[in-house]
Amino acid sequence: MCRLATLDDLDTLCELDEVVFGGPEHSHVDRTGRRQFRYQLTKAHAEVYLAELDGDVVGFATVLMREGSTVLRGYSIAIASNARNMGLATEFFAWAERRWIELGFDRASFEVHANNPGAQRLYSRMGYVITEQMPDYFDPEDDGVRMVKRLVSG
Ligand SMILES: CC(C)(COP(=O)(O)OP(=O)(O)OC[C@H]1O[C@@H](n2cnc3c(N)ncnc32)[C@H](O)[C@@H]1OP(=O)(O)O)[C@@H](O)C(=O)NCCC(=O)NCCS
Repeated sequence: MCRLATLDDLDTLCELDEVVFGGPEHSHVDRTGRRQFRYQLTKAHAEVYLAELDGDVVGFATVLMREGSTVLRGYSIAIASNARNMGLATEFFAWAERRWIELGFDRASFEVHANNPGAQRLYSRMGYVITEQMPDYFDPEDDGVRMVKRLVSG
């Protein structure tokens, strides 16, 4: 099940952020951190979502919604390791994209580490295509690719 996060979920979000992105296999830029979560939940043009399994929060995603823009920008997505490969991220996209369309967005754009084939497969399966290669985007020698999907035809 997917739902919008609120400020009450701040502790849970921070814990999950640390568990998923705190390890050495992830870059320091992947972590959102408490301040940023709080800002996204309260002040920013952003939405934070939670994925739940049997009543437990097992994943989150954050997107940025710049005022006046019809392009939604992905910020972070994470599913706890013990809940992966069960289709939760796929389910999240199916749920969230309907919401983004209702909110008036016609494209969604995610920046992905070039060395994260799992995430790229997910986006690609959901219909996102690589539109840009971004050398040194995340850090020196940590390249990115931009993956974009047109949410509505026309
Ligand atoms: C990338 C990430 C969000 C994907 O989440 P997920 O919930 O595991 O994704 P899904 O389960 O929808 O899909 C993952 C795989 O499981 C498979 N799958 C989906 N449902 C399945 C099911 N019921 N049974 C078996 N496999 C299934 C999918 O086909 C997919 O296979 P593939 O990787 O070979 O293409 C997750 O791996 C993650 O949090 N990674 C660490 C953080 C990260 O890298 N985030 C991206 C930053 S840009």
